[in-house]
Amino acid sequence: MDLTQKIISLTKQKGFIFPSSEIYGGIQGFYDYGPLGVQLKNNIKNAWWRSMVQERDDIFGLDAAIIMNPTAWVASGHVSNFTDPLVECKACHKRFRADHLADKIKETEEFKKRSLSVEDAKDWGKVLEGVECPDCSGELTAPRLFNLMFKTYAGPAEDSASQVYLRPETAQGIFTNYKNILDTQRVKMPFGIAQIGKAFRNEITPGNFIFRQREFEQMEMEYFCKPGTDEQLHEEWIARRLGWYVESLGIKKENLRIREHEKSELAHYAKACSDIEYKFPFGWSEIEGIANRQAHDLTQHQKFSGVDLSYFDETTKEKYLPFVIEPSCGVERLMFAVICDAYLEIEGGRTTTTEATKEAETVLRFSRAMAPVKIAILPLLKNKPDLVDKAREVYQLLKPHFMCRYDEAGTIGRRYRRQDEIGTPYCVTIDFDTLANGDVTVRDRDTMKQDRIKIDTLADYLQRK
Ligand code: GAP
Repeated sequence: MDLTQKIISLTKQKGFIFPSSEIYGGIQGFYDYGPLGVQLKNNIKNAWWRSMVQERDDIFGLDAAIIMNPTAWVASGHVSNFTDPLVECKACHKRFRADHLADKIKETEEFKKRSLSVEDAKDWGKVLEGVECPDCSGELTAPRLFNLMFKTYAGPAEDSASQVYLRPETAQGIFTNYKNILDTQRVKMPFGIAQIGKAFRNEITPGNFIFRQREFEQMEMEYFCKPGTDEQLHEEWIARRLGWYVESLGIKKENLRIREHEKSELAHYAKACSDIEYKFPFGWSEIEGIANRQAHDLTQHQKFSGVDLSYFDETTKEKYLPFVIEPSCGVERLMFAVICDAYLEIEGGRTTTTEATKEAETVLRFSRAMAPVKIAILPLLKNKPDLVDKAREVYQLLKPHFMCRYDEAGTIGRRYRRQDEIGTPYCVTIDFDTLANGDVTVRDRDTMKQDRIKIDTLADYLQRK
């Protein structure tokens, strides 16, 4: 089993991630998040909100509707430009993204002979001339542009007048509320608006587990600034965001890198964009894009709505449409990176438990902040009512302060391993000495060091950790 497969199977087994509507065979590109998954997602979202909104004086939170007036998507350019080039195999009818196929053949001699570079060739028909279906070697159709926005209807009539879109990015809800924030908050340039919410894309080839889904959550912040200050701010945001992954998510620095976009791969709105990439088991891939969107969106919304969206600077008496720097990331991609980064297999197991086995042990070494469960409370034996009562008492004591789990099933060694597998940083064990002395054992997931701590100082002790 390769590493991605092992992670998929662990996250399913332990209740992080399930295929959506699995009892019906699932549906491609959609996932459900179980008790540990939703908690991990919340930890990621809280860390982002904290650094973007709570700790800033210049960034305001927002929660806009998923469905917007459809003209907003005409204005933003998504109706005409939010497309991927699609090809289909005439024999097996499998569909592919032309740009993904082009990436695959980029290094082949035949492709080089054709002296076309993927970077500057948007004529996918030419790029893929003679290329066969990678699955069955069948002939491919000519590429056509496929719009990724999901469509539905608002109201009872299913006609073109009531057609609406599920948003493919949360950003447009921010641009259409930019004036509301200007008018209701005391705002001075530069300032930002931050939002977390669902986005939907009818991806041609969802895949790599939760990396490319059709329904996902984005965390986006649009930072409005005076034109001319944008390039400097862009650099600052790239550095700040990279630091956040290490400091707040606990991801290893060596597994992160910045990749600047080539001009030809820039989205229709961007002047420049840098991705933060994570080294997934399947290769370096984007987890966040930090784009300079210039005044593209506000210009377009001003034009289509007829509403003046310019900013008037009271001090300099200047009036302008601000430029926008946008750090944008997907919650589930971050979650996937956090899980991959925490995943550790220890060959031969760890030997300090009384029941040492020689099997490989899996530990999710989440940072304290990311761990879905912070503390497990374990009575040494299940059939001793005094121990169980005491353990339940400790559980009630810690529950208001931390995400806790109580577990009395199986041997203590097995229970430690169960907690290691879901990344719980601390196990609190209640034994016979607890009954005599009022102290418990606190076991550290990573060092396996055990400390004896008095129950009346336990919450403080764990808080400090
Ligand atoms: N508003 C800018 C924007 O949406 P993007 O690069 O298309 O830019 C931003 O998306 C982030 O959203 C990506 O870096 C990724 O983390 C996440 N994302 C995009 N498409 C996704 C998908 N199909 N599944 C999961 N996450 C996705």
